[in-house]
Parts: sequence; C-alpha cells; structure tokens
Amino acid sequence: MKGVILAGGNGTRLSPLTLVTNKHLLPVYKKPMIYWPLETLIQCGIKNILIISGRGHAGHFVNLLGSGKKFGVNLSYEVQENAGGIAHALAIADDFADNGKIAVILGDNVFMDSKEIQKGVKDFKQQKNGSKIFLKSVLDANRFGVAEINKKKVARIEEKPAKPKSNLAVTGIYLYDEQVFNIIRKIKPSRRGELEITDVNNSYIKKNQMTFQILKSEWTDAGTFDSLLRANLLAAEMA
Ligand code: G1P
Repeated sequence: MKGVILAGGNGTRLSPLTLVTNKHLLPVYKKPMIYWPLETLIQCGIKNILIISGRGHAGHFVNLLGSGKKFGVNLSYEVQENAGGIAHALAIADDFADNGKIAVILGDNVFMDSKEIQKGVKDFKQQKNGSKIFLKSVLDANRFGVAEINKKKVARIEEKPAKPKSNLAVTGIYLYDEQVFNIIRKIKPSRRGELEITDVNNSYIKKNQMTFQILKSEWTDAGTFDSLLRANLLAAEMA
C-alpha cells in the first residue's frame, strides 16, 4: 500500500507562526511536525510516500526530507496550487495511487503509538473494498469530524458540529480503495468553499463500505495553539 501525506493549507490558525514558514515544519518536541505522520506511515510498512504541499514551501520539504533515503523509503512530492481543502489536495494523488489502496494522513496529526494503526492497515488489506477510519474519544469533539455510531457501524460523520452526537473524533488517517478519486470528482465544495474529506467519508458510508477502529493510544492534531502545545507536551511525556 502506498501512502500520502497532506501538508498543504495556509495554517492561518497558527498565525503569526506560519507567516513565513509552513505549519508542518514547526517543532513537535524534538522533531519537525511532518516527521510524526511520516514515521507513522513508515511504521505501518509503507515504503512509497507522496507529500503534497502548498506552493510557497514545497522546496523546504525537499530540503528537509530529500529522497527519503535516510528514512529507508521513497518520497515523491506534488504541489497543491491553491488551498481548496483536504479532498482537493488528495485528488492530486490520483496518478501516484495507480488504482491501488492508499493510506492518507494529515501532516498535522500526531499519533503517539502506531501499533493500533498497523493493525488497522493489516485489516484493511484484507477488506474487499471501501474505506477505514480511526476514531478517538475526545473532550472537544466540536473541533473535528464527529462519527455517529449505530449498530456497530458509522452512521454518519458531521464536520465540526455545534452539538456533537458523540465524543468520537475522526482522526486524520484514512485508508481508501481506488474509488476515492471518483468520489472526490463528484463532491461539491462546502459552505467554506472547500472539498471536505468528511463528504468523501460520508459517500463511503452511504455505499455501506466504511469500517472503523477506535484508538486507545494518544492522538492529537497540532493545527491550533492549544493542540500544538498538547502535541509537544504529549511527545515530551512519551519520550
Ligand atoms: C480535519 C478534518 C476533520 C478531522 C481533523 C483531524 O480538520 O476536516 O474531519 O477530524 O482534520 O485532525 P481540520 O484540522 O483541517 O480543521
């Protein structure tokens, strides 16, 4: 299975930290943020990884990570010309995916332990088709995509709901089959003008092709001041 790291966007929630550099290059304890999702994919045995970033900082990712040789993997790079949402960025990976299954991870997601994800990836390789997502119980579900579970299935995901129907956040690692690119071509921009990954996931749910796993180990995003601080503290605690 190939992997895709989405490292685009303007990181406006972290301004002024992101005025002259990219969010994914900021530190999470002893490593640049993007090392965390990269190492998560590598620990899942993924050896071919595409990094999609915005135009302004694409060269910095190449300077930092190079060919991937020092990590024992092959890295490729693509540029998202305009920030149009997570699903908009993922569409760029169509040729790279080459009709195979892919693991997609957001560049600002920090998973403290990859063992549970390794199991999910293994299970997904056996899954006939569709998608798998990873959920985590959180206190501030309204900041995330939130999954409603009914009869052991994901019934629906709501993006940043004012009144979350559960405390299960959809984390930023997604496993998809080759249908994902056709699904992205069919979805429409949301009210904030972006192609939302939640709409992609809801399409799989409607087809009854979505499985999920609930994570016990620590996870956080790092896209706001508070979550970036939490990521740093968690990483320091775990070290
Ligand atoms: C994105 C997704 C959201 C998901 C989150 C995980 O939100 O839209 O569904 O729960 O990543 O980090 P964003 O951080 O881009 O607002």
